[in-house]
Amino acid sequence: MAEIDKEAVVAVLNKILESELAGVVRYTHYSFLVFGFGRIPIVAWLRQQAGESLVHAQQAGEWITTLGAYPSLAIGPLLDSHTFDIASILRESLEAENGALELYRELLAHVEGRSVALEEFARQMIHTEELHAGEVDKMLRRPGSAATAPHRGMGPAE
Ligand SMILES: [Fe+2]
Repeated sequence: MAEIDKEAVVAVLNKILESELAGVVRYTHYSFLVFGFGRIPIVAWLRQQAGESLVHAQQAGEWITTLGAYPSLAIGPLLDSHTFDIASILRESLEAENGALELYRELLAHVEGRSVALEEFARQMIHTEELHAGEVDKMLRRPGSAATAPHRGMGPAE
């Protein structure tokens, strides 16, 4: 089995760590800004996402130290559109999640056929993040329509 390019793998893992930490902050921040009838389940969902992002950040960080490298203390980009409506919050989250998904795909490209454990990790995360993006996409659809939300480019435009 070919060796992994440790430096390249750690660089991607650090980007993943930063992006997941940004997710913790973003979901927590948004969870303060939900008002109206749907508040309770939506706040619970956002906090659950913050918790999941934290677990993902911890997994990426553990991999970095497993590889004998130093984990980044930086945090990924944080957008705040200053909008309180749920659709904007979800659209922003979906955009960020798609960015994270790209990083996991990048990780997979670096480790595929070179490290069973890291490949397993990358594939598992791609699976998790794709299901997550699909769930957010469903939340953004109009009730009564099964087509994917137009911004994902997977379904017909509205
Ligand atoms: Fe994640």
